[in-house]
Parts: sequence; structure tokens; C-alpha cells
Amino acid sequence: MAKLKVGVLISGRGSNMAALIEAAREPSYPAEIACVVSNVAAAAGVETARQAGIATAVIPHKDFPDRESFDRAVSAELEKHGVGLVALAGFLRIQSPWFPQHWAGRIINIHPSLLPAFKGLRVQQQALDAGVRLSGCTVHFVTPDLDSGPIIAQAAVPVLPGDDETALAARVLDAEHRLYPLALRLIAEGKVRVEGERAVVADAPALDGIMFNPAIG
Ligand code: GRF
Repeated sequence: MAKLKVGVLISGRGSNMAALIEAAREPSYPAEIACVVSNVAAAAGVETARQAGIATAVIPHKDFPDRESFDRAVSAELEKHGVGLVALAGFLRIQSPWFPQHWAGRIINIHPSLLPAFKGLRVQQQALDAGVRLSGCTVHFVTPDLDSGPIIAQAAVPVLPGDDETALAARVLDAEHRLYPLALRLIAEGKVRVEGERAVVADAPALDGIMFNPAIG
């Protein structure tokens, strides 16, 4: 079966992008990274993608008069590469409603919290301020509302005594690098469908076990 062609949008470090590239190296992986687009020329992830032999494009948002014209240029670049699914991976540009509407059902994002808790920025600080004992990350379809959209997959990590933003972010990021390739695989295998506000995953292995934090002694 033909592989799903994925376009990854980044603005910075690109560690989630790198995790997707790495996963897609596996011959049996059902998706391929067709291109990486950054709105920031200096984004470290652009160099990482280049070194991995992936087509890259830098499209600076400052070159455009408004959000939608930038979004249309990004979209044209993705379409040039035959992209069937857009994966946002640390793409720090709020998009015009046009973009998620144009790519409806074909655009996903990874967010470093268990949505719908802690949307927006300074996510780990929000989690620490709220005193939650479990945090994590979410892969979801993108809709015009920020950090909303049907949830495809989540991974949970504990919040530990003494955690600061950096420590918690590192633990969540580690989970992100495993969750994003898993979610992309499920989509590429045609196992994810959207029913109203929710995404349903077919044939998902049953989970057993409860994560306690503090742990039961
Ligand atoms: C990740 O924490 C992701 O969840 C959020 O932005 C960060 C991007 O990190 N959307 P990286 O560029 O993938 O390393």
C-alpha cells in the first residue's frame, strides 16, 4: 500500500519532527516524511531534516501581509510534495481559520499536556501551578480553536516532587517522542476516524493498569 505522505511544520528545535523522521525510516512504517516547512530560517530542525535527506522549505511569515496569505503559501508548498497529512511539531505560528479548514481531518498537532487541561503557552508551569500529579501529552486533530480538536492519543507521565518547568518538560518530551510516531502510524493505517467531536481508534490494544501518583506502597 502507498505510504501516507506527511508534511511537518516546525519553528524551532524539531525534536518531535526528528522522532517522526526516525520512525519513518523503518521500512514497514506506513507514512513517509515528504517535506519539512519552517517559518523560521534559523530553526535547528531545518538542519536536522536536511541532514536526514528530507526536502525542506523556509517560508518566513514576515514576508506576507497577513496570516492567510502566509498559510496559503505554506499549503502550496505542502501540496507541491503531494502531502496527505500535515503534522504540526512545535510550529509557533497561529494560523488563520483557512488553514485548518483547508486541511480538515488531515492536520494533527502534538501538545505537551493532557488536553483539554492546560492549553496555550507555559504549559508545564500551568500544570505545576495547578498541582496535578499526572501530566503528559496529546496528539489531536487541529481545528480553528487553539489546542482543541478530536484527541487521537495521549501519554501520561508523573509530576514529581521538586519538578520545575524544565524537568517536567523533559519528562513529557520523552513521552512525546514515542506518542507522535504511534499516533501517526494509527492514522496512516486508517485506524482513526472522527465521529463528531471525538476521534475513535479501531483495534486499539486494551490497556490495563492504573497509574497512581503518589504510588501505592
Ligand atoms: C513540544 O513540546 C510540542 O509538544 C509543542 O512544542 C514543543 C516542540 O518541541 N507543541 P520540538 O521542536 O518538537 O523539539
